[in-house]
Amino acid sequence: MGTLTEQEWESLRLKAVEAAAHAYAPYSGYRVGVAAIADDGRFLTGCNVENASYGVGLCAECGLVSQLHLTGGGRLTHFVCVNGDGDVIMPCGRCRQLLFENGGATMELWTVSGVKPMSEVLPDAFGPDNLA
Ligand code: THU
Repeated sequence: MGTLTEQEWESLRLKAVEAAAHAYAPYSGYRVGVAAIADDGRFLTGCNVENASYGVGLCAECGLVSQLHLTGGGRLTHFVCVNGDGDVIMPCGRCRQLLFENGGATMELWTVSGVKPMSEVLPDAFGPDNLA
């Protein structure tokens, strides 16, 4: 699957914005929404879910990856992450690892500096190949 048109990226961002509206973020007040496309064309979304035990809060990417597996598996091909204002933000470090596991080096992300492959967002990644 090649890159998306600007319009397709924008519609993916809007799905992430919609997901962010469902965030449970009473502690940080920072809503996050994510949206992705899988290699069979289906859309996946997620929102952050915080916890009174702060360290166990779930990033939005956790929900999205769970949804990927729950709804048939496959690979992520395109991904975007937004905050509660709808601004594109970068996935945190651990979530870059989650995305690498489920989308690999060629997955495309809309980053704060344009669309980039995962290989540029998590260079020289440790991943499944290292355990093969
Ligand atoms: N957060 C995400 O959901 N994903 C990220 O990639 C960055 C951080 C959430 C975690 C926490 O609920 C809030 O943003 C503030 O860190």
